[in-house]
Amino acid sequence: MDLSDKILVTGGAGFIGSNFVLDWFRNEPGKIVTLDKLTYAGNLRNLDSVAADPRHAFVQGDICDRQLVGDLLHDHSPRAIVHFAAESHVDRSIEEPGEFVRTNVQGTLSLLQQAHRYWTGLDENRRSQFRFLHVSTDEVYGSLGPADPAFTEQTPYAPNSPYAASKAGSDHLVRAYRHTFGLPTLTTNCSNNYGPFQFPEKLIPLVILNALEGSPLPVYGDGQNVRDWLYVLDHCAGIRRVLESGRPGETYNIGGRNERTNLDVVTTICDLLDELRPDAAIGSRRTLITYVTDRPGHDRRYAIDARKIQQELGWMPQTRFEEGIRTTIEWYLKNMEWVDEVRSGAYREWLQQNYGRR
Ligand code: NAD
Ligand code: TYD
Repeated sequence: MDLSDKILVTGGAGFIGSNFVLDWFRNEPGKIVTLDKLTYAGNLRNLDSVAADPRHAFVQGDICDRQLVGDLLHDHSPRAIVHFAAESHVDRSIEEPGEFVRTNVQGTLSLLQQAHRYWTGLDENRRSQFRFLHVSTDEVYGSLGPADPAFTEQTPYAPNSPYAASKAGSDHLVRAYRHTFGLPTLTTNCSNNYGPFQFPEKLIPLVILNALEGSPLPVYGDGQNVRDWLYVLDHCAGIRRVLESGRPGETYNIGGRNERTNLDVVTTICDLLDELRPDAAIGSRRTLITYVTDRPGHDRRYAIDARKIQQELGWMPQTRFEEGIRTTIEWYLKNMEWVDEVRSGAYREWLQQNYGRR
């Protein structure tokens, strides 16, 4: 696909979506229309730096609103849809799965229905160029044992959390729209992202901010669960490669080649903050680590085998964890205004709900 055309990005005010939008404008000439409901996880401030850019338009709305999606496709005639919008936090899906099914499954279906209708009405040239890129997760593959090989695109689906199940449902719908209707879909399944603009309910920003303040660092279970951490801008570059040259109907795994235990991630953050923001009253931040009751059904290990995207599309992660985590911590230290804003009343309620009884 030619990246100089306009694309529709859903969920572009969230963590990965906003990084994608900003990164797109640094690298590509094409325009973007962003559709985002602005849930607790969406923040228009993430897109402040492109607010006045004539190449960008923002629309607040729900992907489940088929009329709105249909009108947007009609009015903007995008060359592609890049679909990030989702409920994305496993712990919240354990508390309240309904919203995950609504947005992740029904919302993706609503987008597919309208994309299919729009695509059918295009002329032959534009129809062959159109792409629907669905951003998914490695969590659909379930949990690995310590010696198991990493997830490939052939690994059978075995989602364990309501979040993962809802993403698996959306992946299946995308597959079905390719198989049944021929819609030129692409699916990416990536590992855990980290970087600027991540909402501080997720492990890395939560630990950075708690450690900065000298608050307890809640580690679930024994801290030995493993995640394959991917720097968000590497992920964005991978999505652009797939959009440009991925084969319709294919799925691509995107990983960081960076498996770490949660405890390792947390101690790394502690040591870096001790260096960047020493605080005599706190002392060594490692002393803040607090083991808390495990997450129910907590997946033990995720790991991505990203050889397909490397061999077919020449993509590889470029950022070493030591470098990416330092950049991320520095970003949070420099953006405390953003932090104060997102840590609103609703955020504090969530902390009470999730950690109050652990
Ligand atoms: P996020 O929670 O930070 O952002 C989600 C965005 O979607 C928010 O801006 C929110 O307002 C918007 N949104 C939610 N419901 C919507 C609806 N019904 N209509 C329109 N907009 C809606 O999520 P993220 O971490 O940026 O993740 C983006 C995508 O990547 C998701 O599909 C997620 O499943 C996937 N993913 C994330 C990770 C990760 O580590 N963060 C890893 C693998 C896959
Ligand atoms: P998270 O960032 O929620 O991502 P995911 O569950 O999608 O992998 O969590 C990353 C890992 O960190 C996961 O194994 C759960 C663990 N975790 C904690 O130990 N403490 C916490 O407070 C949080 C939010 C997560």
